[in-house]
Amino acid sequence: MEIVSTVATMQQRVSDARAKGQKISFVPTMGYLHQGHLSLLEEGRKQGDLLVLSIFVNPTQFGQGEDFEEYPRDLDRDAELAETSGVDIIFAPMASEMYPKGYATYVDVEGITELLCGASRPGHFRGVTTVVSKLFNIVQPQVALFGNKDFQQLAVIRQMVFDLNMPIEIIGMPIFRENDGLAMSSRNVNLSDEQRQQALVLSRSLATAKRLASVGDIDCREIIATLKKSISAQPDARIDYLKICHQRTLEEQTRVDSDSVLLLAVFFGKTRLIDNGFLLG
Ligand code: PAF
Repeated sequence: MEIVSTVATMQQRVSDARAKGQKISFVPTMGYLHQGHLSLLEEGRKQGDLLVLSIFVNPTQFGQGEDFEEYPRDLDRDAELAETSGVDIIFAPMASEMYPKGYATYVDVEGITELLCGASRPGHFRGVTTVVSKLFNIVQPQVALFGNKDFQQLAVIRQMVFDLNMPIEIIGMPIFRENDGLAMSSRNVNLSDEQRQQALVLSRSLATAKRLASVGDIDCREIIATLKKSISAQPDARIDYLKICHQRTLEEQTRVDSDSVLLLAVFFGKTRLIDNGFLLG
């Protein structure tokens, strides 16, 4: 396995691989790998001949006062995990390599980026789509894998790939959970023990919503009201949003149907966690 930090070297590796007719699979991450990332790498290993993992805590997707500084980082630990997962190349550039002095170009997807995380984190998706397009141009993968935990991010990336005619297959992979139900996230290490315990209310909320929907309780306002009560009962919880939306348009629904997905973003102290799940089926 090789760790590459410059765009020029990465592009050279990619062009050598393509010249040999190799298929490139790509897992973009911000590092501090967990089991969820490893499941993307496992699938990526099956999908391509050359498996590239990027590790880059992208400054342009963090707003003022967000957790860019606190975001966990440990390249040595990530490299060990990547090696055992069969990664061929880690692309780990510095911010100055990705955004050199004078950098001026951004990619903006309209519409679905204005809702949910886009509403509470203005500019976030502009940063995501910009860095993902740059990474796609640098790595030139035929297939790229993302986790379903970032449900809206995946929808935004699919829209960008479609609109900009990028010849890349996007694969969404299931959410990976701890044994107690907490969705895996690099940010979980920033929770205190007490907050981590409280955060289990997220997966419990999903289970409650599914149960209510399955017994015919399909009024979204009622389901949301029930969930709000139990989440707000956690002393460190502050709800950012809690919505039942259509899986494709991400527009809020009034009644649950087979396209309904519950999307949650909740702060526990300073750490903002997201989770989601379909309510029927
Ligand atoms: O999901 C993430 O880790 C990031 O948003 C991504 C896609 C790597 C872009 O920085």
